[in-house]
Amino acid sequence: MRITVAGAGYVGLVTGVCFAEMGYQIILVDHVEEKISLLKRGISPIYEPQLDKLVSKNMGANQLSFTTDYQYAYANSDVIFICVGTPENEDGSANLQFVYKVARQIAETVTRDCLVVIKSTVPIGTNDKVEVFMKHHLKHDVKVEVASNPEFLSQGTAVRDTLNASRIVIGAESEEAKQVLAAIYAPFKQPIVMMNRRSAEMVKYASNDFLALKISFVNDIANLCEAVGANIEDVTNGMSYDVRIGNQFLKPGIGYGGSCFPKDTKALHWLSEEEGYVLRTVKAAIEVNEKQKFKLIKKARKDFSSFQGLKVAVLGLTFKPGTDDLREAPSIPNVRLLLNEGAMVHVYDPAGAENFKRLYPTEVAYEKTPEKALEDADLCFIFTEWEEIKLLDLKIFKEKMKKAFIYDGRNCFSLTEAKAAGVQYQSIGRPEVKEWEAKTEAVR
Ligand code: UGA
Repeated sequence: MRITVAGAGYVGLVTGVCFAEMGYQIILVDHVEEKISLLKRGISPIYEPQLDKLVSKNMGANQLSFTTDYQYAYANSDVIFICVGTPENEDGSANLQFVYKVARQIAETVTRDCLVVIKSTVPIGTNDKVEVFMKHHLKHDVKVEVASNPEFLSQGTAVRDTLNASRIVIGAESEEAKQVLAAIYAPFKQPIVMMNRRSAEMVKYASNDFLALKISFVNDIANLCEAVGANIEDVTNGMSYDVRIGNQFLKPGIGYGGSCFPKDTKALHWLSEEEGYVLRTVKAAIEVNEKQKFKLIKKARKDFSSFQGLKVAVLGLTFKPGTDDLREAPSIPNVRLLLNEGAMVHVYDPAGAENFKRLYPTEVAYEKTPEKALEDADLCFIFTEWEEIKLLDLKIFKEKMKKAFIYDGRNCFSLTEAKAAGVQYQSIGRPEVKEWEAKTEAVR
């Protein structure tokens, strides 16, 4: 079976590499020359554990090849996976221009019957529309069918997630398409769930939006914990013993970011409004997240009347650890605000600094170590829970900073550690006990 993967981003590259790893011969096609030329040299254009190694290994074994020539890639394919980006339009809807561009190229090129599988996250009904569109643009007398096969990998663990997926969701209208996809995925030995195309498209949005909702719920409760003297970590720990709740995605913070949750919550909300239905829960998740991003700044404003002329250390830029991706990272609007208010910002991130330089080439100082960023700083914000940051001794903050005011958006340190180090430490959903002792005293 000839399999082609269109799009060498997180989803396409990891999918292609993992298919090759399972013994398929894969052609990966992308229109970006730089990406393909890096890949041809065995270098992954994205930072993802294991990826470089698997790219080189499968290229060496002739299981994997890369090209920008879509005609060569599509002409003789039996199955083509579309894995291109579906970014956000200004109104929150999904931008499908790349999906349609590839669909058209495939339709104009295929010379044999072909199953086109959409892995990109697309609004419900898109698979149906793409199939009609492709049939309209076919240049040869061949049959094309479109099937949905959403992806559930996370950045930073993408290869592991794909090789050990919780489930493979297949949405197809014909039995034949379902069987082809089931056969392709058989070597992965993962649970396969079959349904129609629209349901499969909805599984993807509903899964991401549910996880986003879980995070916003925890952040909402964390904020209330601060007001009533409870500790969010004890609260979520207590909740997690209920297997119906579980212990995943209950970490409070300064909001979810990345290329998926922000985009997919907005896209589903937009779609629901188009259908005349208000998806209230998802709307609330979006609103809580927007506010949560500025939670630390709000806390810092209580200690500093202005940021003008202050030296601010920023530890962590990426939307989560284990990636160099900055898309929708809470660090971006926060640094913008600090710069607008006249702060001198010194940043440290073990992987995201190069990408941040594209946004702020000269406005902020890039430091190679956290210690350097902390030197003589008046205050420090922590936006990402990198191990390199979590493993720091809080005494270093005390030693290096002019005033050790720390605002930790990812609860990297314990309150006991902070007390012992003698720093002014504030985190999310964990108020200091002494505040509550004072309040209780006043009531007595
Ligand atoms: C997410 C989903 O987890 C994947 O299942 C999905 O396939 C992927 O989107 C996608 O649609 O492609 P990803 O964006 O890589 O994966 O990152 P996550 O690990 O889910 O984290 C997203 C954001 O939520 C991060 O900013 C993270 O810091 C935040 N988060 C996560 C929390 O604030 N608290 C938590 O408990 C978990």
